[in-house]
Amino acid sequence: MYGWGDGEKLLGTALARSATRSPSPPSSASSPTPPRCSAPTPAPWIRKVVDDSLRNLGVDYIDVLYQHMDDPNVSVEDVVGVMKEYVDAGKVKYLGLSNTTPDNVRRAHAVHPIAVLQTEYSIFARRSEAFFPVLEELGIGLVAYSPLARGFLSGAVKPRDQHAADDFRQYIPWWAPEHFDANVAITAELTKLAEGKGTTLAQLALAWLLEKKDYIVPIPGSRNPERVAQNLAAAEVKLTADDLARIDEIAPNGGVSGYLT
Ligand SMILES: NC(=O)c1ccc[n+]([C@@H]2O[C@H](COP(=O)([O-])OP(=O)(O)OC[C@H]3O[C@@H](n4cnc5c(N)ncnc54)[C@H](OP(=O)(O)O)[C@@H]3O)[C@@H](O)[C@H]2O)c1
Repeated sequence: MYGWGDGEKLLGTALARSATRSPSPPSSASSPTPPRCSAPTPAPWIRKVVDDSLRNLGVDYIDVLYQHMDDPNVSVEDVVGVMKEYVDAGKVKYLGLSNTTPDNVRRAHAVHPIAVLQTEYSIFARRSEAFFPVLEELGIGLVAYSPLARGFLSGAVKPRDQHAADDFRQYIPWWAPEHFDANVAITAELTKLAEGKGTTLAQLALAWLLEKKDYIVPIPGSRNPERVAQNLAAAEVKLTADDLARIDEIAPNGGVSGYLT
């Protein structure tokens, strides 16, 4: 979905090996809009996007192939059944799911072992904790996406009206005017805790994920090499049981969004 192949071509120039994801099919071949609909015949579509990914990345095999999100019109068994063909052919090593349900993880795993689930998880977004039992039962890893709450846990958060009208933060409830100040107050308390430990808010947020479970790998996004280095250094930050309890006290239900996150 990232640039409809352009992102993969760019990665292909930088990486000898890589992980990629299988998007749902677009409603028309030229549409740049992220699709939510299914193709009438999903198997040929899935084969096309995986073959395109292999070609775009310039690799013989893909380490991890994810289904990016559930398709309401195609059973997860059918999707994983096609993804499995690529494992059997040696063109994919491991299968993953993203943006799904615990029940779908179980159903997919019955067709072919699922190695990893990619889901939104951060101090602000806690709903992924519902996956812990199934992940532990089946031995599946968790890749935590948007671990900095899409930038809210960055220490440089700005209100909605300072972002462009088409900026994605216009649609995220943490930035809604009625929630923004409460969330800034949470980050101020978290920042105090981080600074008391000689670290930054972003590093605290990443260390919190690493401390939660040994099978969690956060994937912070950054376009800045210095911040990438800071994020990697979060692996050295150690949080105590008291730190974890304090974080729960500061943000018992995650970020304020009008519903439990
Ligand atoms: N599976 C899915 O459906 C899905 C959905 C969303 C995201 N993802 C994945 O999750 C990854 C990251 O998520 P994300 O980019 O949405 O959110 P994120 O990692 O929670 O936040 C990224 C934001 O934080 C800023 N930032 C990063 N490191 C920082 C630091 N050390 N100090 C201060 N600010 C920092 C970045 O700004 P700068 O760029 O200016 O540093 C950017 O604005 C990506 O790989 C993305 O592909 C997956």
